[in-house]
Amino acid sequence: MPRQLSLDETAAPLLPERPSLPKLREAAAGCTACPLHETGTQTVFGEGTSKADVVFVGEQPGDQEDLQGKPFVGPAGKLLDKALEDAGIDRRQVYVTNVVKHFKWQARGKRRIHQKPNWSEIAACRPWLEAELDVIEPRVLVCLGATAAQALLGRDFRVSRQRGELVESDLAENVIATVHPSSILRADDETREQEYRELVRDLEKVAKFI
Ligand code: URA
Ligand code: SF4
Repeated sequence: MPRQLSLDETAAPLLPERPSLPKLREAAAGCTACPLHETGTQTVFGEGTSKADVVFVGEQPGDQEDLQGKPFVGPAGKLLDKALEDAGIDRRQVYVTNVVKHFKWQARGKRRIHQKPNWSEIAACRPWLEAELDVIEPRVLVCLGATAAQALLGRDFRVSRQRGELVESDLAENVIATVHPSSILRADDETREQEYRELVRDLEKVAKFI
């Protein structure tokens, strides 16, 4: 088992009283609760309205997100937008965010290669996500990919087996996990189309709750 982090090793002490999304965003902009603030360009907070019906949670901002300061604006975000449209979900009903709010990367030549956040970085950042969910109280929470699913639903959660199923959780009325859109971008040419259709099928289940 990982060591429990004490409160001051997480973002918890930075949470504003009576939080709103603007107040949270402002407080998170100055977060230094884990080492990722040193290498990320900026905190990439969630985006969308507090009235959103669905919250999508990814892993962490990517290269484009880090530069633009907005979640899901790079290639994975474009694919997610298309899948939402194909599933009949209006982007305005949706809030998108990540379990970790700074980009973790390693230089390879001129490129910045994504690195998985570790458990203590996820634990440090989690208060922001919990506060977002408390403010929004979405009808549906959707975990995109294994990092989000395991961070929120437990380390034994397997997206490959449990995708598209409703999961029992205190986090929201309805909780579901599916693959991360970037896994579709990485798929072989032969399987990409099929995997995309499966993502849309999971999102169609989400659409039924809203
Ligand atoms: N991948 C994620 O998990 N989140 C983003 O915001 C972008 C890419
Ligand atoms: Fe704070 Fe999260 Fe950024 Fe770490 S990744 S510094 S906990 S906002």
